Amino acid sequence: MTNKLKYFVGNWKMYGNFSSLRIINQIHRFCSRFKKNGIKDKIILCVPSTLIYFFTTKIKSKFISIGAQNCHYQRSGAFTGSVSASMLKKSGAKYVILGHSENRSEGDTNQVIKKKIESALDQKLYVIFCIGETINEKKKGKTFSVIRKQMKDSIDKKYNLKSIIIAYEPIWSIGTGNIPKVQELKKSFRFIKNEFKKNFKTKTFPVVLYGGSVNDGNIRAFSSISEIDGFLIGGASQSSKKFIDIIKNYYK
Ligand code: 13P
Repeated sequence: MTNKLKYFVGNWKMYGNFSSLRIINQIHRFCSRFKKNGIKDKIILCVPSTLIYFFTTKIKSKFISIGAQNCHYQRSGAFTGSVSASMLKKSGAKYVILGHSENRSEGDTNQVIKKKIESALDQKLYVIFCIGETINEKKKGKTFSVIRKQMKDSIDKKYNLKSIIIAYEPIWSIGTGNIPKVQELKKSFRFIKNEFKKNFKTKTFPVVLYGGSVNDGNIRAFSSISEIDGFLIGGASQSSKKFIDIIKNYYK
């Protein structure tokens, strides 16, 4: 159930400009020195769409991949302000976050997210698919039924499931400093992995990341949980120092 390769994914959200290249360069330098031979994990930075092309042409790092944070489900058309999966792919993105709770709160339903996943997979992008419950759902004991429905409604077993990474982000944990208890996380991760394998009839377990208030101070608590394959990091990924310290402390 454990994936040896760990993922450290940054979600910059609405942050960054051309000069933020410095952050990526610093992370690259760290990765190339880490444990002498360079880091073996996957480092992915999901940046605003306006920066994807710039970063992918400027950085030639074997350690770092660039991803996007959302896309429209149509390939092109009259959708003011939107960006399609094919545009992201052509800009150099390899990954796209879909189903983030911040986009769900702006109207993305499980069905809309399903169409977005299809369009991203069509473009051979890797999808980082976010799921997670609200605090009220948690209090009512509905966490598992909510995340089961999110997966069932947005994923089809016909998809190229190897290109889908799940990110479990309890909504009450995002940007709040509150994180689930170790035992709760173990249970949730086992549940997600088993459900995915059973429902979509895969031979292997999916890669599942944890997201929500991950920082250099609390990352040690997560490293004991072998079911967690990596992290989707919001605020702390906007600083090279914090992002690097998360990786360092994870392995301490
Ligand atoms: P924070 O790490 O800022 O809580 O954000 C988590 C998140 O939303 C990542 O997608």
